[in-house]
Amino acid sequence: MSEGGRSPLRLGILLSGRGSNFLAIARSIREGRLAGAEIAVVISNVADAPGLTAAGSLGLTTALHVSKGRNRAEHDADMLATLCQHEVELVCLAGYMRLLSPEFIAAFPDRILNIHPSLLPAFPGLEAQQQAFDYGVKFAGCTVHFVDEHLDHGVIVLQRVIPVLDSDDGHTLADRILAEEHIAYAEAIGRVASGEWEIQGRRYVRRLH
Ligand code: GAR
Repeated sequence: MSEGGRSPLRLGILLSGRGSNFLAIARSIREGRLAGAEIAVVISNVADAPGLTAAGSLGLTTALHVSKGRNRAEHDADMLATLCQHEVELVCLAGYMRLLSPEFIAAFPDRILNIHPSLLPAFPGLEAQQQAFDYGVKFAGCTVHFVDEHLDHGVIVLQRVIPVLDSDDGHTLADRILAEEHIAYAEAIGRVASGEWEIQGRRYVRRLH
């Protein structure tokens, strides 16, 4: 049981690559900063994703559902079965670089989080950090949001903002945004796990008692 007597929220992590956001979440749980959640399963759609190897090394339950060459609906149905088998309550996309099927999204209404390396709605899609740098914005950052059927679009849970420095290039900016992502994701999961929130229109707000 977590502090409030509530059972930890069971997370299903989906990733495709490096997995640094997943590792930051795992570290927050291990170090007691995210007591309201536990990782039930880590799923990768890419066989050699370093994040999947890292999850195995940590002794976490892992699953591989290779997506390449597969029909999206069938692939996602297999992932859903694994998530259900492990009684996942909140799905966290941590560098999962494939669109989800509408059926998958409908199976977890307001229960899929994504992290994106820009201040949405600016710069959705790929290489958001470079997009922001090239545009010349003076502030950049990251967004944790619920996933809906549109790309990088759902209700925003939280954002973290950093200034763009004159000395930055696309890589240094991406590195500094990533450091913010690692703080933001665990914080957002903690907020969602608290249950003390509601969605008003497009706005995620803390519920007042
Ligand atoms: C992160 O920067 C994440 O925000 C981004 O992929 C990277 C994954 O890194 N996701 C997106 O761009 C989603 N639209 P990680 O594998 O080290 O967590």
